Amino acid sequence: MIELGVNIDHIATVRQARRTVEPDPVWAAVMAEVGGADGITVHLREDRRHINDRDVTILRETVRCKLNLEMACVEEVVNIACNLIPNQATLVPERREEITTEGGLDVAGQKKGVQEIVRRLQDCGIVVSLFLDPDLKQIEAGLQTGCNAIEIHTGRYALAKNELDQNTELNRIINAGKMIVDAGLRLHAGHGLTYHNVLPIAGISKMQELNIGHSIISRAFMSGLREAVAEMKRLILSVAKN
Ligand code: PXP
Repeated sequence: MIELGVNIDHIATVRQARRTVEPDPVWAAVMAEVGGADGITVHLREDRRHINDRDVTILRETVRCKLNLEMACVEEVVNIACNLIPNQATLVPERREEITTEGGLDVAGQKKGVQEIVRRLQDCGIVVSLFLDPDLKQIEAGLQTGCNAIEIHTGRYALAKNELDQNTELNRIINAGKMIVDAGLRLHAGHGLTYHNVLPIAGISKMQELNIGHSIISRAFMSGLREAVAEMKRLILSVAKN
């Protein structure tokens, strides 16, 4: 069955806008789980711009479904992952200037290094996924690292300007997915998926996990705003003296 991993980084981004305690990603993770999330995904960036060490420590204690830690191939975070032991680690590229993860990991260009990190994480009991573009050279290199899963970067599919380009990107994802499944690995996908574009990706044969953040958190703001305003209004009116 296909699993939904909910990326809650944006909750922490809003908290960091004020450097305060709300909204708390730990609470968000509980709400996501109650809503049916099969996994909670967080990216512990080197610059800690949103999710921080406190968050991952508490999430490890509180998340009952799969905790998926997105992380760069750097020593500091590998050590944190080996202490934390999330159920799954997804290796992603990371550049400080980027707004979000812009491309897949260049595993073909650093196969030995990635292989070593995959093995270290697996030795700690962590399932390892690589976040790769649907580029057959990268997928081929990824398969040689001994990882357990490959998450295909769906960003180009999501950003396609017309139906023709979107179909071209969808076919690249389908072909890459077939290679991954034929090699016996778990097939994951994510990035830029929305309520409008998710179905063709969810329908890919043997797709096992989708990781979605921005669209779900955006929808949550909108579906929750009306009640949040009504609650504040009730509170104010309960003491108003005129
Ligand atoms: N998968 C990976 C590896 C990511 O880096 C991200 C973004 O942090 C996502 C999925 C979710 O992307 P989006 O927020 O666009 O749904």
